Parts: sequence; structure tokens; C-alpha cells
Amino acid sequence: MIGKLVFCFFLFPCFVFILHVFLRDRRKTHAKAKLPPGSMGWPYIGETLQLYSQNPNIFFASKQKRYGEIFKTHILGCPCVMLAGPEAARFVLGTQAHLFKPTYPRSKERLIGPSALFFHQGEYHTRVRKLVRASLFPEAIGKMAPHVESLALSVLDSWNFGRVINTFHEMKKFSFEVGVLAIFGNLEGHYREQLRKDYCIMDRGYNSYPTNIPGTSYRKAVFARRRMSKILTDIISERKEKRLLDKDLLGLLLNSQDECGDVLNLEQISDNIIGVLFAAQDTTASVMTWILKYLHDNPKLLEAVKAEQEAIRRSNQEESKSLSQAQIRQMPLTNKVVLETLRMASIISFTFREAMADVEYKGYLIPKGWKVMPLFRNIHHNPDYFIDPEKFDPSRFEVAPKHNTFMPFGSGIHSCPGNELAKLEMLVLIHHLVTKFRWEVVGSENGIQYGPFPVPSNGLPARFWKESPIPGQCGCA
Ligand code: HEM
Repeated sequence: MIGKLVFCFFLFPCFVFILHVFLRDRRKTHAKAKLPPGSMGWPYIGETLQLYSQNPNIFFASKQKRYGEIFKTHILGCPCVMLAGPEAARFVLGTQAHLFKPTYPRSKERLIGPSALFFHQGEYHTRVRKLVRASLFPEAIGKMAPHVESLALSVLDSWNFGRVINTFHEMKKFSFEVGVLAIFGNLEGHYREQLRKDYCIMDRGYNSYPTNIPGTSYRKAVFARRRMSKILTDIISERKEKRLLDKDLLGLLLNSQDECGDVLNLEQISDNIIGVLFAAQDTTASVMTWILKYLHDNPKLLEAVKAEQEAIRRSNQEESKSLSQAQIRQMPLTNKVVLETLRMASIISFTFREAMADVEYKGYLIPKGWKVMPLFRNIHHNPDYFIDPEKFDPSRFEVAPKHNTFMPFGSGIHSCPGNELAKLEMLVLIHHLVTKFRWEVVGSENGIQYGPFPVPSNGLPARFWKESPIPGQCGCA
């Protein structure tokens, strides 16, 4: 009885009062802050058609011109706030990252696997990210370098003799092999081949309309993903039997224990392996395709890069000697070409987050549940930060870009842990490409295709010929 009285006369009124204060404060936030400028388009479809009927970058750039660095829109059924300034990107991805969670369409999450780190926030994300980063520490990358070089040479040799190849597809083969190397170390050929086949089917389905109707690319991808899980289970059982304590990503995932001694389960390991393969392949392949295009379109620059790389080649007394870490670090012009390509192509034009609470930014309200998109490309192409931004000019990187204006690998707690490996792949490939091959782009199309990252039209068809070394120049003549 006394309990009931305490509840009626004390606890219940207290609860009502606290709720009232909470709601009043929430209303106050709403009252003070207004939604950013912009247009929400038509009911339900919003501005989806405007976005997809043209180059998305034109859509974003025209909005920024009209409304400024923060604006609202409505795409694919979701209200969104877009952020085109470096400070705002840092706010969402860095300083206030705890207020925004990563968000991906369910269909994509289902294919990659819901336990992959980039779908998560908090303890689980921190734990897996530490392992991924450890597998990609400079020491680990140093050990991988000679193998990356052999892979680069073997892919380049397969392009010889002037037949037309799809550069992007070939780059994908290379970046896939490097991804496999980083995850498994030396994986047996038959496993690699099975994984490659099913990964290709999954990759095609990832970018298709997500419907489970038999015969569609998406459904084929779902089945390929299941087969990949089975292959990974076999690889993992074999690794466990052999009790190998390798320091590649699989080894680190298998041997990880949290404070309570809990290990990661099979699904968590598989999803993260496929997640890393996925994050590593198209990204790096797209950038490498752009590098070839920009070098081809700028013959003087290509000559200068060749001169830099020939000097390194000459300093390697024997023709077959691998590039040393010191040599890879000492490629100042080539390194700037890589940076400028990352800026110009901005292959990850933006990323998605979702506000987990009402958030106020510079007097604007970002309502809970709205998608938030930092627009990397707009920042990289803003003349306030990069003079004459549409010009391919590696020399601009002689001076470091202003803080937070150059984010090809993202920023904050979800930034790319594979950035150093990606740069290594590109530098090694350029070294062998320019010192041993000449190439010619086929066709004069200058367009861009999205799949989903931007790449030159038709994957940049090109012909390659191996050049015989100039006598006396390679140190072996
Ligand atoms: C040029 C090539 C690459 C580019 C431009 C790139 C770009 C990015 C960007 C922008 C993000 C952050 C996305 C976001 O905040 O939503 C990211 C995340 C990630 N990248 Fe890369 N990436 C590249 C290559 C790689 C490679 C080679 C690997 C692995 C070997 C890799 C693994 C990852 C992973 C695992 C994440 C998720 C990190 C997390 O959520 O904590 N990436 N990448």
C-alpha cells in the first residue's frame, strides 16, 4: 500500500516532470535551429530523378552554388543533409562522429555480410578495426612489397603484344590479388580461383537492382556470397588444423580474444574478410585506371615520371632486383601524381552517415534519422582550397593542402586503414609500367562511367607493348 502511495504521489509526478523538461528542451532545439536551405523535391521520390539523370557531381555542385556548403534534399526515399565544407565533414566524421552512425542499404549489407566493420560503431568496430589496421601496419606492408611487385609484373606481362584490353578490368585483377595477399598471405591456387570466380558474380550483383527474382544478377550474387562463405569456412578449418599463427588479417582475426576471452565467430570473420576484399578492390583499381589516363593525356608529365623511375631502375644494379622500401618512399613526382589523381578523380565522391539524435550545426538542425553526406569531391574541387581545380597539376602537392581539405581516404574513426597499401600498389605499378611499357588509349571518348565509382568510359580500352631496355640504361647491358 505504502509502495502504491509513493508511486502515485512522488515517483509518477517526478517522472512526468522529467519527461516534460526533456521534451521542452528538445522543442527548444527545434525552435532555435532551422533546417538547412534546399529543396525536398516531389513527395516520396524527392530529387532522386534529378540526381540520377545526370552526372551526380553536377547535381551536387549546382546545389552548393545555389544554397552554400550545407543544404537539404531527399533522395532514394530518405531526407538528407549534404555537407560540402571541410569543417562540416570533420564535424560529422571526426569530432562528433559518435552522433552519426554508418548507414548502407540493407541489400548491400546482406551481400557483404552484416558483421563487416564498416557497418558498425562502438566497441565491436574498434576491436575489428584494430585487427585490420594491425594487418596493414608499415612493417606488414614492407613484407608484402616484393609480392605486390611480382603480382604487378605478372599482370603487366599479360597485357603485352598490343591487343586491346579493358584497363579497369585488368586493374581489378591486380587489386583483387593484392587484397587476397593482405588477407590470407600465400593462399592456395584452387581456393584463390574459387574465391575470384564467386567474388566477380557478387561484385556484379552488388551494383544491380536488388531483387530476389531467379535469374537476376542480385540473386546470383546472393548465391555466390553463400558459396564464398563455404570456401572461407574450408580455408579457416585448414588454417586452424595447421595451428598457424600468421600475422595476416585472417591470422589476426582467428587469434583475437577480447577482455573476456571471447573469440570472433565464423560469420564475423567471413564478413570482415569479404568486407576488406570489397573495400580494397574497385577503389584501388579505379584510381590506377585514372592514373594511366592522366599520364597518357599529359605526355610531358609522363616523360618526367619516366625519368624519375628510370633513375631508380638504373640504381638497382641487377634487372631482377626488387624495389626497396627506401626507393618506394623516394618517388617525389610519382607520389604527387598519385595524390593529384586521388583529388581529381575523387572516386569516393561522398559518404553516408545517419544522425542518431537531433544535432545542431552552425544554427542548422540535422534531425534524428536523416542521412548526412559529407561531399569529398566538392571539397577537392573547390577553388578556395585547390586553385584551378579542374586542371591536373601534381605540382600543387608541393605545398601540403589546408587542414581537412584533402580526404580521399575519408577522415576520423572510419577512415581507410588500407591507404598505405593502396599507395604502395600504385607506386609499384607505375614504376614497372613506365620503365618497361608504352601504351596507347584506344578511342577518343572522354566520358566517365559509374560502377559505382567513376572510371573512364568503357574502362579505358588501351594497347600495351613491352619496350626492350635501352642498352646501358638498366645497368645490366
Ligand atoms: C585508392 C584506394 C582506396 C580508396 C580511395 C579508399 C577510400 C576509403 C574511404 C574514403 C573510406 C572511408 C569511408 C567512410 O568513411 O564511409 C575507406 C574505408 C575503408 N577502407 Fe579504403 N580505400 C582504398 C583502398 C583500400 C584498401 C586497399 C583496403 C584494404 C586492404 C581498404 C580498406 C578499407 C576498410 C576496411 C574501410 C572501412 C574502415 C572502417 O569502417 O573503420 N581500402 N576507404
